[in-house]
Amino acid sequence: MSEKTSIDMKMFWYTNMVVIPEFVTIITTVDKEGNVNAAPYSLGVPYSVTKKKPQILFLMRKNSHTCINAQETREFVVNFPSSTYLTDVMETAQFMPRGENELDHTRFTTIASQKVTPPSIKECYQHLECRLNEVIEDDMQTRLIGDIVEIVVDSKLTAMNRYDRIKAADPPVYIGDERRKDYFFGKIGKIEQLAFQIPEKGERRKTIRTNIPWEEAALTETAKIPIAIREMVIEFIEEEAKKGGDDRVTYELYKKIEEEYAPKEYTEKIDHV
Ligand SMILES: Cc1cc2nc3c(=O)[nH]c(=O)nc-3n(C[C@H](O)[C@H](O)[C@H](O)COP(=O)(O)O)c2cc1C
Repeated sequence: MSEKTSIDMKMFWYTNMVVIPEFVTIITTVDKEGNVNAAPYSLGVPYSVTKKKPQILFLMRKNSHTCINAQETREFVVNFPSSTYLTDVMETAQFMPRGENELDHTRFTTIASQKVTPPSIKECYQHLECRLNEVIEDDMQTRLIGDIVEIVVDSKLTAMNRYDRIKAADPPVYIGDERRKDYFFGKIGKIEQLAFQIPEKGERRKTIRTNIPWEEAALTETAKIPIAIREMVIEFIEEEAKKGGDDRVTYELYKKIEEEYAPKEYTEKIDHV
């Protein structure tokens, strides 16, 4: 193993020395007068993955135009560009006076969004239309949590298998910058598909570990959960049971939780290994 070195913790620690890959998006907003604004944002993460409340969180400089507009009009669109548009992405990062549309200096054009006022960028391959749900602030930065109200994807991508879709979407990866001047990006050159290692048949049942009593019929149902997430799902169900005042997971309770959090249209797509 190579030697390790501790490094100084500085402002922007995530980009100074450490190598952290991030996705690249351009967020479009409008101000109160309807002027369009666009800028790149990478510090984002899916915040709630449920069907009921899909959410995304972004970390923003407090006084950025995107941050101000999103709070004033409570809507924003997260657009995902292909790597062929990286120079245009950088163009939208330029500081421009409020009210000026960064997209006018790029090859990007806009189309109407489905459910929100800020437009979507036509040349981007997918879009998350968001309504602002929550703002968490400290002195320096603002975290915006948006409810995703519409997910729009280029139609040609939806017909492809995952491998071809990744290739066609060609998403760039942002990997930090030097003094906020030189920005580094990666492009996906090779996609590897690795199967999750499944334990031998006989071992499967042994992997079911429970912390509170389960009715046998409920336990049998867990065999349908993919092995990769089975333990996590079991823990989740036990937590839900406890929250509801149950100290035992019955078949009926299991089915109720399944109906709420893992509806058929989702589970049918899962490969039941
Ligand atoms: C690839 C890339 C990713 C960025 N990600 C973020 C981010 O997640 N949060 C942030 O506050 N600024 C981020 N920035 C910087 C903003 O894009 C920049 O401050 C921009 O001028 C803000 O524009 P606005 O005032 O129009 O919103 C990023 C810049 C680039 C080039």
